[in-house]
Amino acid sequence: MFTTAAKIGTAELRYGDKTLTLPVLEGTEGERAIDIRTLRDETGLTTLDYGFKNTASCQSSITYLDGEHGILRYRGYPVEELAAKSRFVEVAYLLVHGKLPDRGERDRFSALLTRHSMLHEDMTQFFKNYPEHAHPMAILSAMVVSLSTFYPELARERLHEEEELDVTTTRLLSKLRTIAAFSYKKSIGEPFVYPRHDLKYCANFLNMMFSSPVRPYEIKPEVERAMNVLLILHADHEQNCSTSTVRLVGSAKVNLYASVAAGICALWGPLHGGANQEVLEMLEGILKSGGDVKRVMERAKDKKDPFRLYGFGHRVYKTYDPRARVIKQTCKDVLAAVKTQDPLLAIALELEERVLQDDYFLERRLYPNVDFYSGIIYRAIGIPANMFTVMFAIGRLPGWIAQWKESQEDPEFKIQRPRQVYTGPREQHYVPISMRD
Ligand code: CMC
Repeated sequence: MFTTAAKIGTAELRYGDKTLTLPVLEGTEGERAIDIRTLRDETGLTTLDYGFKNTASCQSSITYLDGEHGILRYRGYPVEELAAKSRFVEVAYLLVHGKLPDRGERDRFSALLTRHSMLHEDMTQFFKNYPEHAHPMAILSAMVVSLSTFYPELARERLHEEEELDVTTTRLLSKLRTIAAFSYKKSIGEPFVYPRHDLKYCANFLNMMFSSPVRPYEIKPEVERAMNVLLILHADHEQNCSTSTVRLVGSAKVNLYASVAAGICALWGPLHGGANQEVLEMLEGILKSGGDVKRVMERAKDKKDPFRLYGFGHRVYKTYDPRARVIKQTCKDVLAAVKTQDPLLAIALELEERVLQDDYFLERRLYPNVDFYSGIIYRAIGIPANMFTVMFAIGRLPGWIAQWKESQEDPEFKIQRPRQVYTGPREQHYVPISMRD
């Protein structure tokens, strides 16, 4: 059922000799918005908001984020609580269905995840044709859109049918994990390891990644737990760049696979999910240059240098990202469990400490974000840097599915098509090339 914000009053806008009365809406956590839908018809004006810094593109009841106070909740549940007590598969169900599953629902969902974990054998041939150096995010996106050629799409009018929804959701969740592991195996030239029916979601992934016919892999409970935590923390983040992409592409009524494939491409960017790979490369660079943390901070502050301090800053968080807090602790736990002392952790801790005392970062309220410590955990688990954003994508998938579903069910469903303020030449007329000199 779609929930709409309550109308709590009006706001007046004066332009020329016209006064326009616009409705003011309030969401369940007290966020207020002016509804400008009639602005253009009444005044001929449009609105200009680069980067949608203050534009709500939809009404949503999935995730609540308060960037001023560092609050993140999925369907009302604090993310810290879910990370501590739940598992990724349960959180995926919560996001897509809007409620936690009972035992029967969870078992059915898990059974479907197992049933749909294999890839059609013809699809496994695709991997062979990518070059060795292919980035796994490119493979991931291409393989996800290819799923639409093998499997039926989720019809809009059947979204409310629980079984239909669960089959599509679990098919995507399960196969994305298999595709991710296969693309890694391809990159290191090892044979694919197929999913096992006796392993849970994260353990299955770790086994597909790290076992081989000649080398069994011991799944450490701490590592499996850490992967659950990381995926839960990434599972949704309201209208971020990739999720908005999924909604926008889906608004043309294209199928879920194509929408998610577009979301994967958006996530790849270094300002978004690709930042986790950049963070690790940045920390490695600091280590190689003798651990000089101050030099990268100076570069990040230099307006003539395009370099940014990856893993810091966020469009909505103006305080410590609540996900980063949990990840920082998980990072220490994992390093202890795998008995590794990663010199990058010491550099990361020093960098964070210095940033939190530096006026440039304090004035702009730039704190560590979710990508700052996650790479060190992945590295300790054995996942290479170019797979970090793939891990982010596996985590974000339930959010994309939930947001895509919600947008399709919205009674105000419309193709998304923003306006612009045109600044090009006024009308001019074609002159043949012979007369242009
Ligand atoms: N290093 C140095 N300066 C920064 C940084 C940074 N990481 N982030 C922002 N700034 C500065 C920026 O130069 C600007 O300064 P000024 O006001 O003097 O021009 C000011 O802070 C505001 O930055 P902005 O680019 O206008 O802010 P935004 O909301 O458009 O960008 C961001 C948000 C995440 C893209 C940005 O903070 C950034 O590039 N961070 C590094 C990349 C990163 O870690 N991305 C992962 C984000 S969390 C995962 C996800 O959800 O995607």
